[in-house]
Amino acid sequence: MTCIDGFFAGKGAMELRALVTGITGFVGSHLAEYLLAQGFTVSGTYRVRSRMDHIQDIQSRVQLVECELKDANSVRQLLSLTRPDFIFHLAAQSFVPTSWNSPEDTLVNNVSSQINLFEAIREQKLRCRVQIACSSEEYGMVYPEETPIAEDNPLRPLSPYGVSKVAQDLLGYQYHQSYGLHVVRTRTFNHEGPRRGEAFVLSNFSKQIAEIEAGKKEPVIHVGNLDAIRDFTDVRDVVRAYVLALQLGEPGEVYNIGSGVTVRIGDALEALLKMSPKKIEVRRDPARMRPSDVPILHCDFSRFQKATGWTPAIPFEQTLTDTLDYWRARV
Ligand code: GDD
Repeated sequence: MTCIDGFFAGKGAMELRALVTGITGFVGSHLAEYLLAQGFTVSGTYRVRSRMDHIQDIQSRVQLVECELKDANSVRQLLSLTRPDFIFHLAAQSFVPTSWNSPEDTLVNNVSSQINLFEAIREQKLRCRVQIACSSEEYGMVYPEETPIAEDNPLRPLSPYGVSKVAQDLLGYQYHQSYGLHVVRTRTFNHEGPRRGEAFVLSNFSKQIAEIEAGKKEPVIHVGNLDAIRDFTDVRDVVRAYVLALQLGEPGEVYNIGSGVTVRIGDALEALLKMSPKKIEVRRDPARMRPSDVPILHCDFSRFQKATGWTPAIPFEQTLTDTLDYWRARV
């Protein structure tokens, strides 16, 4: 299946080594499963405090390396040990509200981890391809006439997290231009599905509904800004896109990844509530409001589709059902 040119030509997926930073996380665990199914040899990073339950079914089939990406020495050792052909750099502080509480930590964590990775690749003269997980949050303040958003839209981030992703994104560009690193930047729009951390909107609403159904919570769901408009893609479609990005994407290029379909958060909530037999009151929680919220994200993914043929396959309703069922099985 691997359609690889240049120095990977002739190598089947079986011989290709993939490294996933943040393998124990939501996207990392789905990506690792997909890579294994495609025949890659898979390694991944974790930290002492990482939760391992997302990868328990595949733990025996992947090489796990304890690594603090903020520590340059730790990253050097990681690459010497794993010698990857493909690197999927997912590890990051990824929750937008946390970035207002800890802006410095978000910036340092997200930016320095990636610099350490790039510098170690250079130092070790590793011939590898690197996908970096950038974000639609980089677009930030988008005006209605700018939608759907193409890659050349101005970047006007509205959170420290968005700024950290702009920095990661531009560093990817710069390291490609300066040193010829094979970096592919993916600006992914919202993605959801089973295993999503409970802080994120659809997962949070699903968990609350599951708790109410289980009689563990009064029939009231607490919500934040329901007027934001987002473009959701299922995580299982997103990880497929990441592999294609490294197989077929142009080095140095940036690609939007999303569904091209928008939904108001309030309508997504309505759809989830309809899936429950319980009568649930919706209550606004001022603590869930943000200092500034990105009003609309609507993805134009035509550049990526043209380069790779990718198109999302899992409908939004399926993502909602699977997320709700995931929490029903856990609360
Ligand atoms: N988390 C959360 N909780 N969000 C809520 C809530 C709530 O109770 N109520 C409304 N929202 C709104 C938020 O204000 C936001 O407009 C939207 O729902 C989505 O919030 P999140 O799920 O927290 O995601 P995000 O859009 O801030 O960021 C996600 O997408 C980015 C890509 O666009 C994250 O996955 C980022 O890591 C990712 O880069």
